[in-house]
Amino acid sequence: MKAQIKGMGHALPERILDNKELEQMVDTSEKWILERTGIRERRIIDDSETTSDLAYRAALMAIGNAGISVEELDLIIVATASPDMLFPATACVVQEKLGAWNAAAFDIAAGCTGFVYGITVAEKFLLSPEYNNILVIGAEALSRIIDYTDATTCVLFGDGAGAAVLSRSDSEAGIIASYLGADGRGGQHLYIPAGGAAQPASLETVEKGLHFLKMNGNEIFRFATKTTVEVSEKIFAMTGVKAEDIDLFIPHQSNMRIIKTAMKWMQIPPEKTMITVDQYGNMSAACLPVGLSLAAEEGQLKAGDLVLMVAFGAGLTYGGVLLRWGSD
Ligand code: UT7
Repeated sequence: MKAQIKGMGHALPERILDNKELEQMVDTSEKWILERTGIRERRIIDDSETTSDLAYRAALMAIGNAGISVEELDLIIVATASPDMLFPATACVVQEKLGAWNAAAFDIAAGCTGFVYGITVAEKFLLSPEYNNILVIGAEALSRIIDYTDATTCVLFGDGAGAAVLSRSDSEAGIIASYLGADGRGGQHLYIPAGGAAQPASLETVEKGLHFLKMNGNEIFRFATKTTVEVSEKIFAMTGVKAEDIDLFIPHQSNMRIIKTAMKWMQIPPEKTMITVDQYGNMSAACLPVGLSLAAEEGQLKAGDLVLMVAFGAGLTYGGVLLRWGSD
């Protein structure tokens, strides 16, 4: 039995925020952003929309591509670091928008690794005969938790959503292996200090900007380069698959320099690597499903292809999934 991706979808806001515009907003330069991150532009959600709206649009596309009805969904998982609210879960908000009344729904808070965690959890649920079709969404409106006076973070992030419908299959196509990890000791390197039970929102926390994302970029950079390689190695050891067997590598899209380090180590050529960071920036949990959905839409994937996705993020968390592309 395999957990197979039956359909992918994505939703990206129309509004483009490019480096030139950021230059007018904060103390940064087009040249610095491009050279140090590889990012040219990112998408920013409209004032009238929120995370669940992007998630909903991506979900509709994935459900359509999977060829199922919303009534057939048994579970909705939304991976996000920018939920609509602390609760209810954004997955429940999406359930309502879809009218997927037969589905249970919950969120996963695993930062940028959220989609990898999500499809791994879905794979385990599909071992049970009660779950047949599971919708996993990575959705972010990061522009709502970013401090646009902080040049060290605001140039990096963008908004977007990607979704996958997973179902049980007896064929070769589907998830081959996944690996998850976490190291809570690094939690303080990427977090939102206030707005939770530890530091409830107050006039003071808002004045100090403690409701915005804070990141120690250098620490995360070190963690990212190390874990991207370690997770890939772990998956290769688990499966016997080698780097040269990979047809499409989709690494987390936070910085072109981190992606290039991983490509160099694995000797994976650019044509086998999905790059979206230049166009969409870091969309946290949405990076991987948007990348996979675009690759499928653009005809970059054919049945039987081996796809490796690797991510790291707040938690700190890390993980990877190896899958064979195709659906029954
Ligand atoms: O998905 C979540 C995971 N997040 C990540 O993966 C992010 C990982 N980290 C990174 O991608 C990089 O560390 C950053 C892009 C965040 C920073 O790049 P860096 O090359 O590590 O720069 P740095 O932090 O070492 O700073 C170098 C210089 C500093 O100036 P001084 O002290 O050398 O004078 C910074 O103040 O660059 C300056 N700087 C900027 N300059 C212009 C930092 N941000 C900016 C900016 N524009 N936006």
